[in-house]
Amino acid sequence: MLAAPLTIGPLRLATNLLLAPIAGYCDLSFRTICREQGGLGLACTDLLSPQGLLRGSATSLDLARTDPYDKPIGMQIYGSDPRVMAQGARWAVEHGATVVDINMGCPVDKVTKKDGGSKLLTDLPRAIRIVEHVARELQRCALSADEWSARLGDAALTPGGAYPVPVPLTCKMRLCWSTDDYHAGRACSPHLARSLADAGVSAVTVHGRTTEMKFSGSVLLDGIARVVDAVNGRIPVIGNGDVREPGDAAEMIRRTGCSGVMIGRGALSTPWIFRETWSFLRDGRVPASPPVAEKIGIIRRYFDLMRHTHDDRYALFQINRRVSWFARNLVETDPRGKPVGVKPLKEAIRLAVLPDQVHDALDRFLRGGLRGGFDQFDSHAA
Ligand SMILES: Cc1cc2nc3c(=O)[nH]c(=O)nc-3n(C[C@H](O)[C@H](O)[C@H](O)COP(=O)(O)O)c2cc1C
Repeated sequence: MLAAPLTIGPLRLATNLLLAPIAGYCDLSFRTICREQGGLGLACTDLLSPQGLLRGSATSLDLARTDPYDKPIGMQIYGSDPRVMAQGARWAVEHGATVVDINMGCPVDKVTKKDGGSKLLTDLPRAIRIVEHVARELQRCALSADEWSARLGDAALTPGGAYPVPVPLTCKMRLCWSTDDYHAGRACSPHLARSLADAGVSAVTVHGRTTEMKFSGSVLLDGIARVVDAVNGRIPVIGNGDVREPGDAAEMIRRTGCSGVMIGRGALSTPWIFRETWSFLRDGRVPASPPVAEKIGIIRRYFDLMRHTHDDRYALFQINRRVSWFARNLVETDPRGKPVGVKPLKEAIRLAVLPDQVHDALDRFLRGGLRGGFDQFDSHAA
């Protein structure tokens, strides 16, 4: 079945669709607009440094920011020291996490040089040690019924368990480090996923690329399917990579047998993608895309939330760097069927130094202005 709500340990999500962590993009304001659009089962913070959280660094605390509406929420931690990771997991539970996720997929040098992220795919004993330490710590800080009720959102706890119930642990990985290894049938992810299930992990997410691929090429669905086969139904596997429209999610489920689908970049341009995809998975129909006025309303909402959680300067910085993503699906054709360029709108927003100028640009666009002209970002947004 394509549209079965996903169960992660004791947690039953409302759907089987997840918002991916995207460092610098999937912040509280963005998660909020995705949730408001519907269809989203679980969202996740960007990767968090346990040391930063424990030190109380302003950047880490900002990245970990959540609120009562932002539930259920996964908090993703990265690193290589099992003890520090365990302390980070405790911090996450004490600060509202519904799920704790360990990053085993980040290909960025800053993370892998310190043996974290996808470097763990080259040192499986260390990966397992981390998981064992974290899983033990999560048992120690298991939650009461009251504590759970504040972090479930539209998810539920599966009946039958006696409280306290620990927060479930998940891991997000790539297929393996080396692309040659993958093509030679030596990807570590199937074996790793089985070992993670033994060590107490409740679900794994697999981004179907190798570390060496970074974000190039296309997602390798066969690699995800091999992980699904390897765990043999013991824990759910969440597929991830290149889902840009509802049909991609259905194809990923059909071709890999995965139980859930995580969407990252597709949501940056289409925050309503979860609603559309859930509808498509249920009955094969994609609801009409929101009218332009509603899409403009979503951009405005994001901007205003950012102003509220941060300040005008930061909100202007954020809207400036993401306007290409937002503009990507803004309007495809004008009433005569001609493609509509949004370059003037993007330029007006990029030049804005005051919040009113952003709102004014959006108003002008709605009235039919600031249209026309294409730039390279129209086809290759951000
Ligand atoms: C700019 C950027 C930042 C990312 N940051 C994270 C991160 O913090 N943690 C993580 O697990 N994955 C991160 N990812 C990977 C995404 O979660 C996801 O696995 C990847 O983008 C493939 O999914 P998509 O094609 O749906 O975007 C990042 C990806 C991008 C492009």
